[in-house]
Amino acid sequence: MTVKKLTLTGPFRQLLTLDNLPLKGPLHDEQLEVIENAGILTKGDHIEAVGPFRELQVLAGDVISLEGDWVVLPGLTDAHTHICWAGSRARDYALRLQGKSYLDIAQQGGGIWSTVTHTRNAGVEELTALTVNRAERLLHLGTTTIEVKSGYGLTAEAEQKMLDAIHEANGITGADLIPTCLAAHIKPRDFSGSAREYLDSMLRELLPSVKSRKLSNRVEIYVDEGAFDTADARHYLHAAKGLGFDVVVHADQFTRGGVQLAVEAGALSADHLEATTDQDIRLIADSSVIAVVLPGASMGLGVGFAPARKLLDAGASLTIASDWNPGSAPMGNLIMQAAVLGIFEKLTMAETLAAITCRAATALRLSDRGILRPGMLADFVAFPCGDYREILYSQGGLLPGMVWKKGERVKN
Ligand code: NIG
Ligand code: FE
Repeated sequence: MTVKKLTLTGPFRQLLTLDNLPLKGPLHDEQLEVIENAGILTKGDHIEAVGPFRELQVLAGDVISLEGDWVVLPGLTDAHTHICWAGSRARDYALRLQGKSYLDIAQQGGGIWSTVTHTRNAGVEELTALTVNRAERLLHLGTTTIEVKSGYGLTAEAEQKMLDAIHEANGITGADLIPTCLAAHIKPRDFSGSAREYLDSMLRELLPSVKSRKLSNRVEIYVDEGAFDTADARHYLHAAKGLGFDVVVHADQFTRGGVQLAVEAGALSADHLEATTDQDIRLIADSSVIAVVLPGASMGLGVGFAPARKLLDAGASLTIASDWNPGSAPMGNLIMQAAVLGIFEKLTMAETLAAITCRAATALRLSDRGILRPGMLADFVAFPCGDYREILYSQGGLLPGMVWKKGERVKN
């Protein structure tokens, strides 16, 4: 047996642990634990200690010495993406710039269905390569854990192909990919039965094999106009829970109803929330459902942001994710989007940083990351600056200089 050495990395001008923060409600910047001139002691893939660099030096086998000013954070978690897709929707975007709405474009041959056509035509190798490529781009921007949805296959076979591609991609990229089965994205145009019949076919033909092949623990449904109604979604989520899945609701993007269902179904999270009302904010805040807001979808569609400030003030747990997808959110830059949401919604830096680290990990039920603390995965990201406030202040302009995943440096 080889004994793993203790490796000390640092000094970092500032280390933000993101530790000891409540899961729900508002946060003040003073609540952020900042260690000055810090080091991170790692052993293999996890953290042994964080603290003042000088104090840790005596314990270290190896020392990786850094020059200059660095601020280090836990690796970011992007808790909502659709990065497994083929084709492009630049045409949809051009139409939106001409004033057409997302729903109009979908009815005119663009939208989710056009990505389904391209994704169905792509082989698993091509989809894997596309997913790896996008995951690596996110990793270089500091995101070490990425949730990835299926949802552009919409037959049992094509959804399985997407989940296989995500699984393959997870073995290749340096980031951790967390798959979600989104077979209930929309009813595919070539399915001749009702929405309920489509969902039942997925419950019969897809979800049991997703479970037995361990392709995903998570099942999601898109509840909205043009997608599924709450009655069908209630039925589907209940059955998915019965099969042992965690459930997630794509809620209140254009019309309300999804949050209510998410709370009633005991969903892990309700994602989107652009159309969420004050009444629903109360509901979600009083529940264990995590609010996942997606500023990238607001930017991609040119619509207002989800009410992040109100959600926090009501006592909800807030996560911010990129929603990177070919239609509504083509950018895929979490820090930039979180920073912009922060200035529009008046989120403190602590609230924004927690929403892409510790609170985001909780939204995926991952208790081993998102905080720099002994025992956690050695996932961390360093920015070339001396004051953590520079990171959000630069609104995505300040790129990470170094990224570590499970103790390995994946970006220099
Ligand atoms: O998160 N609106 C539904 N689903 C995705 C968009 C998918 C797409 O347009 O391709 C979303 O916005
Ligand atoms: Fe989405």
